[in-house]
Amino acid sequence: MSTENTGKQTALVVGAKGVIGSKLIEHLLTLPEWDVIGLSRRGGEDRADGRLRHIAVDLLDAGDTRAKLAPLEHVTHIFYTAYQHRATWSELVAPNLAMLENTVETVEAAAPGLRHISLMQGYKVYGGHLGPFKTPARETDAQFMPPEFMFDQQRYLEQQQAQSGQRWSWSAIRPAVVGGAALGNPMNLALAIAVYASISKALGLPLRFPGKPGAYDKLVEMTDAGLLAKATVWAAANEGCANQAFNIGNGDIFRWSEMWPKIARWFDMEVGPPLPLALADVMSDKAPLWESIARAHGLAAHSYDTLSSWGFADFVFSWDYDMFGDVSKARRFGFHEYVESERMFYRLFEEFRRNKVIP
Ligand SMILES: NC(=O)c1ccc[n+]([C@@H]2O[C@H](COP(=O)([O-])OP(=O)(O)OC[C@H]3O[C@@H](n4cnc5c(N)ncnc54)[C@H](OP(=O)(O)O)[C@@H]3O)[C@@H](O)[C@H]2O)c1
Repeated sequence: MSTENTGKQTALVVGAKGVIGSKLIEHLLTLPEWDVIGLSRRGGEDRADGRLRHIAVDLLDAGDTRAKLAPLEHVTHIFYTAYQHRATWSELVAPNLAMLENTVETVEAAAPGLRHISLMQGYKVYGGHLGPFKTPARETDAQFMPPEFMFDQQRYLEQQQAQSGQRWSWSAIRPAVVGGAALGNPMNLALAIAVYASISKALGLPLRFPGKPGAYDKLVEMTDAGLLAKATVWAAANEGCANQAFNIGNGDIFRWSEMWPKIARWFDMEVGPPLPLALADVMSDKAPLWESIARAHGLAAHSYDTLSSWGFADFVFSWDYDMFGDVSKARRFGFHEYVESERMFYRLFEEFRRNKVIP
């Protein structure tokens, strides 16, 4: 890993194995000025050229965090994308705040060149997960009654920055539902759709939208993980974006009623009428079936659990109200990337197929 006087910046990607963090690392490694250190509990493979190093750490454990992160004196940017899942909104607060605090306090003390902390948020800051909310959601929209862990995390950063004498800046990045290819995480919608379609097909069923009846024709927005990675690095590297929040979306919105038949066509399936299903329940007994599909098609050895984001898919498909933000602030500040959501789904499904994740 390169050190001083090389013009290099060192990114600490917290949540390196996540749907968001893994793609962020991939993007940073395409940019020669960055070296990357990835944090997660499971760790990962380092790159032979030294530009990427993984550290396995439990950020909920303050002692482990201090022991593993205190030597990281060259970190210039923290990209915080870690996430601890819990069953209720209130239970999310304590672990997600503790992980951020443990990270920031250790790295602040260790790394004199720390310049920026990027915080991954989402439309939860607008109450999008609670029920019908004001759309398009804007960065200036009013907050709502807590608990909401993303409020606590942002407030913590603002206070910590003030205490540090403003020696670093922050940015808060707010994606819609993220389209990514990482496995083994609780929130991957494209993967859930791909596995649901593959199992439906194996059972000779048409592809039926499993969400609430009202969710089929509402407006939805997605954020491609690659586009999100570019936006995140852009905001962190751009002084004009300091201490600001940005909605980041693909640039289009769609209704499942239009997208679902296209997805069915991609899988070479008929589309059936929508039928509300609790995927977390009806897909829970499908592991043996998946194993036989995997054997028949020579799929890579991933456990069914690793491929199951059913609770998250149920959540997204329960939105019988519009779910989208106004992404014009990022454009006004200079970020102009665009991804067509339909193409994004096809690209992700192709990636799953190429990697033998699905037949
Ligand atoms: N996915 C989406 O569609 C989406 C949409 C909008 C906003 N967001 C927000 O973006 C953030 C990241 O989401 P994501 O979907 O990328 O999350 P994710 O896929 O679940 O990734 C979380 C990362 O955090 C790591 N992690 C969890 N607990 C840890 C611990 N105790 N110590 C060290 N590392 C730990 C995980 O690795 P290990 O398991 O190996 O520790 C993983 O790398 C969240 O705040 C989420 O709400 C996500």
